[in-house]
Amino acid sequence: MERIIVTPGHRLNGEVRASGSKNSALPILASTILTEEECRVTRCPDISDVDNTVQILRYLGCEAEFSSGTVTVKADCIEKSDIPYSLMEQMRSSIIFLGAMLARLGRAEISMPGGCDLGPRPIDVHISSLKKMGAEFVEYGGFLYGEAQQLRGAYIHLPFPSVGATENIMLAAVTAVGETVISNAAKEPEIADLAQMLTKMGARIEGAGGDVIKIVGVKRLYGAEHEIIPDRIEAVTLIAAAMITGGKVTVTGIVPEHIKAVADVLETAGVRISTGESFVTADAPKRLKAVPRIVTAPYPGFPTDCQPMLTAMLSVADGVTLVSEQVFQSRFKYVNELYRMGADIYVEDRTAIVLGNSRLTGARVTATDLRAGAALVIAALASTGKTEIDDIYHIARGYENIDGKLRTLGADIKMK
Ligand code: UD1
Repeated sequence: MERIIVTPGHRLNGEVRASGSKNSALPILASTILTEEECRVTRCPDISDVDNTVQILRYLGCEAEFSSGTVTVKADCIEKSDIPYSLMEQMRSSIIFLGAMLARLGRAEISMPGGCDLGPRPIDVHISSLKKMGAEFVEYGGFLYGEAQQLRGAYIHLPFPSVGATENIMLAAVTAVGETVISNAAKEPEIADLAQMLTKMGARIEGAGGDVIKIVGVKRLYGAEHEIIPDRIEAVTLIAAAMITGGKVTVTGIVPEHIKAVADVLETAGVRISTGESFVTADAPKRLKAVPRIVTAPYPGFPTDCQPMLTAMLSVADGVTLVSEQVFQSRFKYVNELYRMGADIYVEDRTAIVLGNSRLTGARVTATDLRAGAALVIAALASTGKTEIDDIYHIARGYENIDGKLRTLGADIKMK
């Protein structure tokens, strides 16, 4: 599958179920190497990032199977302590294995993740935190070599609430000697989900989901079964897709609280939102209205991962929206592609000025990253004429059956 083809002209209506969260699945799958016993992780989305994580687990020597949404891992005979370039380049977030490998094996060799289309994505905070816990690192030839005879608990104040660094510290701390305190920790729902899995495995963790997380190291962890939380970013993608077509959608199997910041923005845009215990219904107004300002921020703020999709949606709204990106340095590359589809959007430094009322036209465009690809699909649904989106492997990294789900809602979308 190389290309997505969208033929517009259909209002999206109906009900669709969210898949399990990509960003939760990756650290939780990494946590399974902390025990020799079998772990079962359910509601894993069928996406290439999960496939790639399973490949890494197998490379390390684990038995790992992915079938019908469940990944079963037994890490009783790990043979390797490196992640080669070929696997690392597929997925920058494989850095999440660093803390778990140091904890389980006392060493880790990881190909350096480098930059990506969101701008440079350094791992300095991961490294300085793990150093505080007794790990030592050498960088050479594009590889990072880490060693830790015995990880020790430490007090770690993060300069900003990095999601990946918080997860890496948690994975390293659960079997370290003594207490680890993470202050200014990331509060994303995926952090609390990882803590739940680790707690089921026998870890002692308090405060995950808040500013301060306390972890008391235990001698050993055990096998566990855990269901991944729903993918809040996928849910927002499906809602934005329906809203740009003037439709009405119910996304089931989600935690409405997880998308509160986005729901508030949608309401400002005129969308009628109603929620139940595990669903959100979004009903589009006759015309979407601009939102004066969207500023991305760590959870519970407006998620950077939803920024491209909402920008695409608001390109057809009535009035000017300012979108300020505060988490990643260059997350507006997709705007060039939207511009080619007729979107009136200008970028100045970290702010996109979305002029609104754009008349989108179908074009041949390229997905530059995962959420950029989603933004193009959304724009394509409301344009005149067919859109062909290339490089859709980016979309396959993080969306399970996105074409099937959109077709269920009435879209004319094909993968070729
Ligand atoms: C995770 C998510 C990603 C989301 C992001 C922010 C996963 C697999 N990915 O990425 O989808 O967009 O959170 O919500 O869960 N930084 C440093 N040094 C570091 C670490 C991070 O400078 O050591 C910077 C990054 O370059 C970025 C910012 O901090 O500008 C936020 O990064 P972080 O929260 O760590 O994001 P990720 O864990 O990479």
